[in-house]
Amino acid sequence: MSSLTAPLLKWYDTEKISMPWRGDPNPYHIWISEVMLQQTQIETVIPYYYRWLENLPSIETTAKASEDFILKLWEGLGYYARARNFHDACKNLVSNGIYQVPDTPAEFNQLKGVGDYIGAAVQSIAFNHPIPVIDSNVKRLLSRLLELNGVPDQFKGKMQSYLLSQISNQRPGDFNQAMMDLARIICKPRNPNCPLCPVKRYCGAYANGTVSDYPKKKIKRPKPHYDIAVGVIWNGNNLLISKRKSAGLLGGLWEFPGGKVQKNESSEDCVIREIKEELNITVAVGDYISTIQHAYTHFSITMTGYHCRYLDGEPEAIGCANWKWLNAKDLDTLPFPKANHKLFDKIPGLNPFND
Ligand code: ADE
Repeated sequence: MSSLTAPLLKWYDTEKISMPWRGDPNPYHIWISEVMLQQTQIETVIPYYYRWLENLPSIETTAKASEDFILKLWEGLGYYARARNFHDACKNLVSNGIYQVPDTPAEFNQLKGVGDYIGAAVQSIAFNHPIPVIDSNVKRLLSRLLELNGVPDQFKGKMQSYLLSQISNQRPGDFNQAMMDLARIICKPRNPNCPLCPVKRYCGAYANGTVSDYPKKKIKRPKPHYDIAVGVIWNGNNLLISKRKSAGLLGGLWEFPGGKVQKNESSEDCVIREIKEELNITVAVGDYISTIQHAYTHFSITMTGYHCRYLDGEPEAIGCANWKWLNAKDLDTLPFPKANHKLFDKIPGLNPFND
């Protein structure tokens, strides 16, 4: 079978996208970069990547860090399970006396958060194991190249065996990165630049003039929308904040207690009910603060905030992982979801009830 490998690598050598972790042989740097890149654009990742390495330059420093510190460094990057899993993987290695990234797929792939993508990317780039990467960019490229008539996820086996037949044994990491770069630069979702493609003569869709018919589209579910009401609960100049449970969206982040407004319920009643359910304390609702809109990747919210006065009860972490009283001036020291940040500017540093 004729192979696209040589023209692909030749193209990559002159056209590759410059990225701070490229050409850096440190496997820990490659690992954290790939974890950040898994769901996030390169430009967004770059400042987070530098900040991470300044603060946590090794497996050992990461293992020793608190979850709050980890999530604060990740704040705004989304998909927080990636950070929690990376933290867990580093802790696991260090607890077994291992301070280096495992250099075999068998060991590396057992770590939390290491799925097919991270396993292939890190082991190929850092240790030259010929394991193909299949991310959404590569799926699009292959759906055109191989004319895959269905949503790409149906063709995992076919994509895998094709890539295994093509991957360079000398430069597997470059091969994988070249596929991803080619998909980003040339084989774009819209208006692919086929005339400049170094592998167009291997492309079935290009030969048939049907590139724009691929990839076949998944039917997208509409994003759910939630109405949320939250309480900014004052006791002196301290605010009561709760930590979200690890499992689920925004897991491990801190937030103002509250929840979804039920049918026929006022936002004020919702705040009182949610705070009782989540923390078993009683509050009185005071002034309205603001209503903010925020769209996360998987859902959007309208969130209304109220100042609340703490009345009584010792807080208990019932519907949350933890709680704490935090001076209103220190909100920026802990990781919060973006929607909560939108309320920060509207919260005074001192108790508005003059208690
Ligand atoms: N996307 C995620 N990781 C990448 C890498 N190493 N090169 C190109 N694109 C990527």
